[in-house]
Amino acid sequence: MLFHPIARLALLQYATRALASTNYTSEALNPQLTNTIGDKGGPILYYNGSGPVPPYNETSPIPAPFTPLYPTNQTENYFYNQVAAIVANGSNYTTKCEKCLASTNVFHEAAISQPVSVVTDLLIRVWNITHFPIYAVTGESEFSGVGGLGPYWAQLFAKMNESTGDYQAWCYYQWDTCTVPPTIEIDESLYFSPKPPAASVVPKPSGKTINVLHLSDWHLDPRYDIGSEANCSQYLCCRPYSTNTKLDTGVSNASVPASRFGYLYCDSPPDLALSSFKSMPSFFNVDDISFSIFTGDIVSHDNDDQLSRAYVEYEETVTYEVFKAEMGNIPIYPTLGNHDSLPEAYNTPNNIDGKKTAGANNIFSWNYDLLSSMWERDGWITAAEANHASTHYGAYAHTTAQGLRIISINTDFWYVDNVFNFFNFTNPDQSGILKYLIKELEACEAKGQRAWIIGHVLSGYDGSNSLPNPTALFYSIVARFAPATIAGIFFGHTHEDQLQIFYDYSATSLNGTLRNTNDIDISKPLTMGFIGPSITPLTGNNAGYQLYQVDAETFEITGIQTYFANVSESLTWTSPVWQFEYDARSTYNVNGTWPATSPLNATFWTDVTYSMLTNQSLVERYNLLETKSSVVTKNCSTAACAKQKVCYIRSGSGGQGYACPYDDGPF
Ligand SMILES: *[C@@H]1O[C@H](CO)[C@@H](O)[C@H](O)[C@H]1NC(C)=O
Ligand SMILES: *[C@@H]1O[C@H](CO)[C@@H](O)[C@H](O)[C@H]1NC(C)=O
Ligand SMILES: *[C@@H]1O[C@H](CO)[C@@H](O)[C@H](O)[C@H]1NC(C)=O
Ligand SMILES: *[C@@H]1O[C@H](CO)[C@@H](O)[C@H](O)[C@H]1NC(C)=O
Ligand SMILES: *[C@@H]1O[C@H](CO)[C@@H](O)[C@H](O)[C@H]1NC(C)=O
Ligand SMILES: *[C@@H]1O[C@H](CO)[C@@H](O)[C@H](O)[C@H]1NC(C)=O
Ligand SMILES: *[C@@H]1O[C@H](CO)[C@@H](O)[C@H](O)[C@H]1NC(C)=O
Ligand SMILES: *[C@@H]1O[C@H](CO)[C@@H](O)[C@H](O)[C@H]1NC(C)=O
Ligand SMILES: *[C@@H]1O[C@H](CO)[C@@H](O)[C@H](O)[C@H]1NC(C)=O
Ligand SMILES: *[C@@H]1O[C@H](CO)[C@@H](O)[C@H](O)[C@H]1NC(C)=O
Ligand SMILES: *[C@@H]1O[C@H](CO)[C@@H](O)[C@H](O)[C@H]1NC(C)=O
Ligand SMILES: *[C@@H]1O[C@H](CO)[C@@H](O)[C@H](O)[C@H]1NC(C)=O
Repeated sequence: MLFHPIARLALLQYATRALASTNYTSEALNPQLTNTIGDKGGPILYYNGSGPVPPYNETSPIPAPFTPLYPTNQTENYFYNQVAAIVANGSNYTTKCEKCLASTNVFHEAAISQPVSVVTDLLIRVWNITHFPIYAVTGESEFSGVGGLGPYWAQLFAKMNESTGDYQAWCYYQWDTCTVPPTIEIDESLYFSPKPPAASVVPKPSGKTINVLHLSDWHLDPRYDIGSEANCSQYLCCRPYSTNTKLDTGVSNASVPASRFGYLYCDSPPDLALSSFKSMPSFFNVDDISFSIFTGDIVSHDNDDQLSRAYVEYEETVTYEVFKAEMGNIPIYPTLGNHDSLPEAYNTPNNIDGKKTAGANNIFSWNYDLLSSMWERDGWITAAEANHASTHYGAYAHTTAQGLRIISINTDFWYVDNVFNFFNFTNPDQSGILKYLIKELEACEAKGQRAWIIGHVLSGYDGSNSLPNPTALFYSIVARFAPATIAGIFFGHTHEDQLQIFYDYSATSLNGTLRNTNDIDISKPLTMGFIGPSITPLTGNNAGYQLYQVDAETFEITGIQTYFANVSESLTWTSPVWQFEYDARSTYNVNGTWPATSPLNATFWTDVTYSMLTNQSLVERYNLLETKSSVVTKNCSTAACAKQKVCYIRSGSGGQGYACPYDDGPF
């Protein structure tokens, strides 16, 4: 299958042989435990969990339980025995799907009648007999220990309801047992007015441009251990405990010792992260950047039982201090990533407990408060916008000095890893985040103001990250407000340099008031999604960032340059070596026919996809650039791979991505 039972970001890949040169510089293995790069007055950054970095075993506050709806006098064993019977061979449940559905129903019954401690204990006992996939060492550490997921899952189970297909969705997307639930059709009349003719008019280029920086997936690792195993076979490499089980190596005999400047399978050590900023003046005039967008993900890819609220707060705090110190008065417009929360990816709708006060009862308010207060402190958004963000999952809209409206939304509400997306599954907007987006776009349309949408988890591409129902509604929103109002959409998350094209629907997509959002017309391109490359090399990528040239009035993208650091060479560095990688217009204008005055818009990129289908070297070029020219890039040398890639680029929703031909290669 395309995705893991729990589809966390990246599949772990690792080399079976050492890739790095043996010519190590002494600086690459300098064991000094604080940054050596960075002179702009930012905070000290630490290696190996030293200094103020919170320890691995730090525990976190847990959410208050819901009042049990139907208290009963049943014992924990009553529920445990049912699940044990369901999962046992010889029960009346024969398929994995049936076992999953029936067990989930028992958990629902327990959650609405028992104290949270009983649900947590049941999870551990059931894990003990089934070993279902978790991101922790034991069931204890996942559900009641440092990971502490039990009280969250108890809330989810209490809210689940058969009538909205929640069990099937949970059993398919989280456990890969049942078949995929159908994508809902969208009744657009419930959300917005029909598209007026003016909304299809593309504004004329102004001929003037500004520069904008796109940063994504920073993933600073303050626990990065210089000299440890960088070529490891489990999450996370470059840690004191990392080993390569095939090579029988570890910290004492590392097959690739972790350079202090980073490696392909590790998150960003301090000096790599800081070097991204340090490299910029050698490529462009930083003072000419009008503003920057940061499409999320600050925290390292630790397992659940190594993460704590203290650790997430620490990472978020030092990261925004670094960003402010490095970028000075150039504003940064951030969005919240799935790793910028605790537990990873978890966000609940504000009304989950049935009370209506915006944000007041949200168990993640501590995080939205922290982030929004830093964004306001740094002068990037106003007090009123920060207040909106603190009560609406980090979402805000801000008009830049140039007149562009930036609308930042929390895409965890369509991310498969956010367990709270598995109740009321057929509601594409349980949190209201998409209604907020619509409200903002309507205001822009009324004023003739152009908007960018920024978010972390991409809405489509291969479909493995984004749930079809909310991204179906998102697609309809884009089709309604592009190309006149939406000038661009920006994501991160995959760590790769990728594109997503949005199209208008086919005439056949509408049946009465219901829209089949998979029925799109490739001859009608509307707008672009740009997926920014990551600073972190994880997993098997190089580090990178992008500079855009943007039309100063229409805010269409007119140019893109990517810069990267080839981390497979990091042991030979005395400091990270950053290089220019490619210019999008000169790389992809393969016929030489796209006018220099025209933006790199959805029409241009659709032409590029047609070229990819007939020009294998072009699709291989795209494939290599996806990883920022990593030495471990997988081949894309067949027509089948080209077809799949083009399908992904043309997929702007989860449902569209799932419909692409899938073949796990080798291509
Ligand atoms: C080490 O450096 C020497 C001299 O620069 C070079 O000839 C040799 O190929 C390098 N070895 C590796 C493994 O890169
Ligand atoms: C990192 O910490 C571990 C203990 O967790 C220690 O064994 C190792 O030597 C430390 N690494 C460095 C570079 O100080
Ligand atoms: C965490 O680990 C440290 C040793 O690394 C130990 O001293 C401390 O007691 C532990 N704390 C908890 C809460 O387990
Ligand atoms: C639970 O047991 C107590 C004492 O045996 C009884 O008073 C109470 O009504 C029972 N509650 C339920 C919900 O059955
Ligand atoms: C059920 O049977 C399968 C295959 O025969 C076996 O691998 C598994 O452990 C059994 N499960 C239980 C709970 O007995
Ligand atoms: C299977 O179903 C039959 C008939 O409904 C029932 O009598 C039996 O107890 C069930 N077996 C198990 C293991 O649940
Ligand atoms: C789960 O298994 C572990 C290891 O066998 C054991 O120590 C623990 O008590 C078990 N937990 C429960 C709740 O049964
Ligand atoms: C499930 O949803 C149905 C229909 O909305 C509702 O009648 C029922 O009360 C819900 N059940 C639970 C346990 O929430
Ligand atoms: C579920 O979503 C529907 C709209 O699809 C909404 O009317 C209903 O209130 C929601 N139910 C819950 C429990 O939030
Ligand atoms: C349109 O919807 C109606 C009612 O839901 C259904 O019976 C019909 O088959 C649909 N038509 C098409 C072309 O999908
Ligand atoms: C892209 O730009 C070209 C040239 O300016 C224009 O003709 C076309 O309509 C634009 N396409 C979109 C989707 O904005
Ligand atoms: C190049 O020309 C071919 C043939 O007309 C066309 O299919 C393709 O879309 C064009 N590619 C670009 C990038 O313009």
